[in-house]
Amino acid sequence: MADTVQQIKDRLSIVDVVSQYVKLERAGASMRARCPFHAERTPSFHVSSDRGTYHCFGCNVGGDIFSFVEAIEGLDFKGALKVLAERAGVELIYERGSKEKKDERERLFELLEAATIFYTSKLTDAAKQYLKERGITDVTTQAFRLGLAGDSWSEASEHLRAKTFSDKEILDAGLAKKNERGSLTDKFRNRIIFPIADSAGRVIGFSGRIFGENASPDAPKYLNSPETPLFHKSRILYGFDRAKMAIRKLNCAVLVEGQMDLLASHQAGWGNTVAVSGTAFTPEHAVLVKRMTENLVLALDADEAGIKAAGRAARTALQGGLNVKVARLPAGLDPADLIQKEGVDAWKKAIRDSKDIIMFLLDVLEEHMPQKDRFRRAVEAIVLPFLSDVQSPIAREQHVHEVANRLGVSEAAVNEALIKLPTSAGASSQTLGPTTAMKSDAKTSPRAARATGRARQAFSILLWQQSLAKPSIDVAGYARDLEATVGGEAFAALSTLSEGEREALRFSAEKLHGKSASPERETRVLLLVILKELLASELDDAAMALKKAENAGDEEEINRLMGVCKLLTTRIGQLHENV
Ligand code: UTP
Ligand code: MN
Repeated sequence: MADTVQQIKDRLSIVDVVSQYVKLERAGASMRARCPFHAERTPSFHVSSDRGTYHCFGCNVGGDIFSFVEAIEGLDFKGALKVLAERAGVELIYERGSKEKKDERERLFELLEAATIFYTSKLTDAAKQYLKERGITDVTTQAFRLGLAGDSWSEASEHLRAKTFSDKEILDAGLAKKNERGSLTDKFRNRIIFPIADSAGRVIGFSGRIFGENASPDAPKYLNSPETPLFHKSRILYGFDRAKMAIRKLNCAVLVEGQMDLLASHQAGWGNTVAVSGTAFTPEHAVLVKRMTENLVLALDADEAGIKAAGRAARTALQGGLNVKVARLPAGLDPADLIQKEGVDAWKKAIRDSKDIIMFLLDVLEEHMPQKDRFRRAVEAIVLPFLSDVQSPIAREQHVHEVANRLGVSEAAVNEALIKLPTSAGASSQTLGPTTAMKSDAKTSPRAARATGRARQAFSILLWQQSLAKPSIDVAGYARDLEATVGGEAFAALSTLSEGEREALRFSAEKLHGKSASPERETRVLLLVILKELLASELDDAAMALKKAENAGDEEEINRLMGVCKLLTTRIGQLHENV
């Protein structure tokens, strides 16, 4: 495993990896961007190609290509490894039969993979025929690993048992239920199986569409995996793993409602399509999309339920900071129907003609309400709540302008109406990712805190210099000086910082001094200033203690402190000579 990690690091630079997700620009020695992990207007996310690391000064996250992919794709380490191995063209070799117990999640991933292979192997001619009739090609069937759960009560469970998975694991994966006799009954029966993957492409659950003459007429049309340790439907978008790069490239995602719609849309050339699966569009879904793009096109069914769902999805997406457009589908047709009945071009046109949600609402209302008064009331009641969800101040102002125009009122009036709206308890912009902010000790005095801060600053310069191929200063010499000045204990505390914290310090030093024309001179001067300040502050303390000792007439203490003051004064004098 360690070899694989190194191989991947050798092949992929941090700049390659990061720039697939954010737009980097050069800034002195490093590259920078607006941080993908928190909302910001000025870039404080820095990438060092020399060290293969990133760091954000705004939210204090940092790490290497692996931690970056973990954070941005919402994966664990193994997931990030899979994604990066694929990108690097490195084959992952799993250690088989290792004695140590694999962790539970790992076992579930393996179980779901085994189940996927099982279901795909069961696809009958009749099922293939059905998919063909629905316009799904063999290529799509294979790419999305569609399968079939047959009529048997327990063949999937038995197959998994034979593969050494325990009943508990099969139940935990959501693939079976316990019947009255205590044995397992397959969850999916008489269904076309759609595997649902996480963003690394690992199967975490299934959706099954009713199929076959033995299917019960009362059974729901679609059945999804229950919530499991791996599968959380409010967080997962069907097809996201296959769509994410297209979403990034096209800078836009298309949202549809069902599995069939998704497959048809991918086939029709919109590889940037994702689907909710048996749930509403959630704030977590918005976060997932926002990792790849800020633009979302809603292409939900044009029936009444679909339009209501589109409205809710739009508000959630707007609250999550996405720009939302709506594709208008002919009444009664969902995307899959439209593509099959009217062809790929009709779908392409629907997506291309998609309109910004506010425009869309204004147009629909205007069509239905020629009377000015009713239209105005409807705009106030229906459109303004959407407008208040728009996060970008610029977009919001444009919308205000448009609404004012259509109603023939002033923008001030629209703004006033907006303010009067009952505030929606919606999600505000979320911050993602772990924050490992380095806290300065709140209990210490301001002076001590400042000294600690200065020592840290000096230390960060040394760390940074140390990481360079050719340090421009005598790092070891300055480190000795610093240790002598701040004392062994404080220095030891600096030396035991975690690697993440060290990296953060390197970045901050590089940011401050890396652009300087003469970093050598600048760092030398700064280090001396800091050392002097630290010594001066100690001298102050010693002088104060001396005064106290004199007042108390403590001869022994007076002598000791006089010695300390003299030593400090000498050292400050020596520093002066050096500058
Ligand atoms: P629809 O009822 O619109 O089905 O449900 P559909 O996508 O057009 O299905 P086909 O074309 O007949 O195959 C839309 C989506 O809602 C979820 C499924 O994800 C489905 O794709 N759904 C629907 C369920 O989860 N359970 C159901 O019983 C029905
Ligand atoms: Mn359909």
